[in-house]
Amino acid sequence: MEQIRRTKITEALKSNAFEATINVKGWVRTRRGSKQVNFIALNDGSTINNIQIVVDVEKFGEEFLKPITTGACISVNGKLVESQGKEQAAEIRAEEIEIFGTADPAVYPLQKKGHSLEFLREIAHLRPRTNTFGAVLRIRHHMAYAIHKYFNDHGYYYLHTPIITASDCEGAGAMFQVTTLPLDNCPKNAEGEIDYTQDFFGKSTSLTVSGQLEGELGAMALGAIYTFGPTFRAENSNTPRHLSEFWMIEPEVAFFDIHDNMDLAEDFLKYLVRYALNHCTDDLKFLCEMFDKELIERLQFIVNNDFVRLTYTEGIKILEESGQKFEFPVFWGADLQSEHERYLVEQHFKKPVILTDYPKDIKAFYMKLNDDQKTVRAMDVLFPKIGEIIGGSQREECYEKLARRIKEMNIPDKDMWWYLDTRRFGTAPHAGFGLGFERLLLFVTGMSNIRDVIPFPRTPGNAEF
Ligand code: 4AD
Ligand code: MG
Repeated sequence: MEQIRRTKITEALKSNAFEATINVKGWVRTRRGSKQVNFIALNDGSTINNIQIVVDVEKFGEEFLKPITTGACISVNGKLVESQGKEQAAEIRAEEIEIFGTADPAVYPLQKKGHSLEFLREIAHLRPRTNTFGAVLRIRHHMAYAIHKYFNDHGYYYLHTPIITASDCEGAGAMFQVTTLPLDNCPKNAEGEIDYTQDFFGKSTSLTVSGQLEGELGAMALGAIYTFGPTFRAENSNTPRHLSEFWMIEPEVAFFDIHDNMDLAEDFLKYLVRYALNHCTDDLKFLCEMFDKELIERLQFIVNNDFVRLTYTEGIKILEESGQKFEFPVFWGADLQSEHERYLVEQHFKKPVILTDYPKDIKAFYMKLNDDQKTVRAMDVLFPKIGEIIGGSQREECYEKLARRIKEMNIPDKDMWWYLDTRRFGTAPHAGFGLGFERLLLFVTGMSNIRDVIPFPRTPGNAEF
């Protein structure tokens, strides 16, 4: 077969260099046709759209064409011609075909018929080859790029915070331990406890639940930073919105108060949604048609409307007066459940909501205490269909108050000295938040299970692939 430089299908479909001979490579979606002519729909992942390969059956022979079934990988040299058919401008008239790899239809699990998302989760190694996961994974890439672009263009530095840590940022205790101690024979100290001085790091360590604490150190030197990395939570939450391993984006900014923080969160989210609308058009159209007819409308709505801002106390009042029957009770001091968040967003305001000033007892130790001594400068951004998409706060910058909160909340403080040092040396008001990357993707793609917006989900009881 003649060696011709490969053209990506996304480029071939846009090209009008008709009559030129080009090469495309990709995976067969379908092959159909008659005794005279076959049509192969070929996809190479560069776009959701397939290019049509027109094959003269007599020229290649039926025997040769037989193994070109759904899932097979082929290389095609052929003439780019104007398509007679509908949507696409271009198709390829095959001159030479090489088969790289076959996919026996008796065992290849991805046949033409639509498969359920549940089934596809069991074959996560192959599901990127479906239209749905191709679309989701391309959108995931574009969103990651847009996040870096947004922060770079706004003067934030990307700070790499550690994945292995000795401190529990959220104080929730839901951490995965990291150890090289022999589990069946752990060394013990005089008190009969596990002797972590003999462990790899000389102390007990875990996978991080958040890069925030180190992020704050960065903000106190570089002014404005963001992190974007994997985070781990060992909570046994089997819900469509929780993963054990997820990616989080955490900006942290010196001299920001909670209002600046809310402005940043709103501008950032709108930028990302607008970016998706502008750069992921074909994939969004597909997901809109297949899964969620209101998807694009909902995305446009976010871009074009102000988020509602109100306090937790006001939110509770609305919920109490709603007459709505909730599974979890509503009272001042209760942690809001997804059903409460979604009621405020979807039923009451019909807009994204930023809820602020939560009771201190349901929030982390580092949040700035309000003058009422009961609430903290927390802010959660609540989105339709998702509930909490962002959690953040203005931070407590006063050494004494922070030390008191750490004590009150029984946070082990021996590994916190470096964090407290920021409040001893040149402390400053500052604020930040965490955006769950997969929650963002749930919203942007319209998918309804978080396991379907990350290539290889980690959830309780599941670490396959
Ligand atoms: O509200 P969270 O726990 O806040 C923090 O970790 C802070 N340290 C962030 C900060 O202020 N820098 O988590 C932040 C966001 C949530 O709003 C949610 O979008 C996402 O992370 N998130 C999860 N996403 C998927 N699976 C889970 N188990 C998640 N837990 C939190
Ligand atoms: Mg939260």
